[in-house]
Amino acid sequence: MTRPALLYAAAAVLALSLGTPRAPRAELSADDYGSGGDLRPAPDRPQAQAAIDAARRRAAEQEAARERARQAEEANRLAQEAEREARRPPGERLIARYCAPCHGPERIAAARHTRLGWSFTVARMRYFNQAEIPAAAAHTIAAHLALAQPAGLAWTLAEYGLAAALVLAPVGWMWLGRARRLAASRGGDKGALTTHDCQTEISPNE
Ligand code: HEC
Repeated sequence: MTRPALLYAAAAVLALSLGTPRAPRAELSADDYGSGGDLRPAPDRPQAQAAIDAARRRAAEQEAARERARQAEEANRLAQEAEREARRPPGERLIARYCAPCHGPERIAAARHTRLGWSFTVARMRYFNQAEIPAAAAHTIAAHLALAQPAGLAWTLAEYGLAAALVLAPVGWMWLGRARRLAASRGGDKGALTTHDCQTEISPNE
């Protein structure tokens, strides 16, 4: 085909395709795109929109009410917890604060000591185990534990017996030392006498 003939042919195809009542690119009609013709009439639309808005507002209000109820419940729970905490003896609160970093509650609950033993135990935690416990708290904790977890009779005797032995040991040591010195000075009297004799011997020559 010659070039003009090709152009005519192309123009004819174009004209045909545009001219046909059902163009190939419009297989769906305008109706097919729409919602089937049940569109609201324009005058009703603001009312429908208002109903939708109202429903949305109601849902938001219900959600806000639920959230407020949840917050109130949470506040109530916290208040009850704070009250329970305030009713706990101060010793228990201090134990939870200062001992819990290293111990589960069972370890302390299992121990029984006298007042002295608890003071000693808490002091050991402070000085040997590097527990950071203020002195006043240590005192309150030891007093509380001595009441809450006292030692039985045998253990009381053992702890006070040990304490008495520790206190008495230096006294006994001192007493022994004095007795020894006394004995030594008695034994040394002879020496003193000889010196005295010498002096008495010397003195007449003076
Ligand atoms: C920094 C860590 C630490 C903290 C805090 C601590 N302890 Fe201990 N505790 C230890 C270690 C370590 C041992 C085991 C060695 C020992 O007995 O000293 C121990 C052992 C004990 C024992 C068992 C030995 C016994 O004498 O019956 C008791 C009871 C105890 N601790 C009580 C306490 C109490 C009460 C507190 C709080 C006032 C406390 N501890 C705080 C580290 C800690």
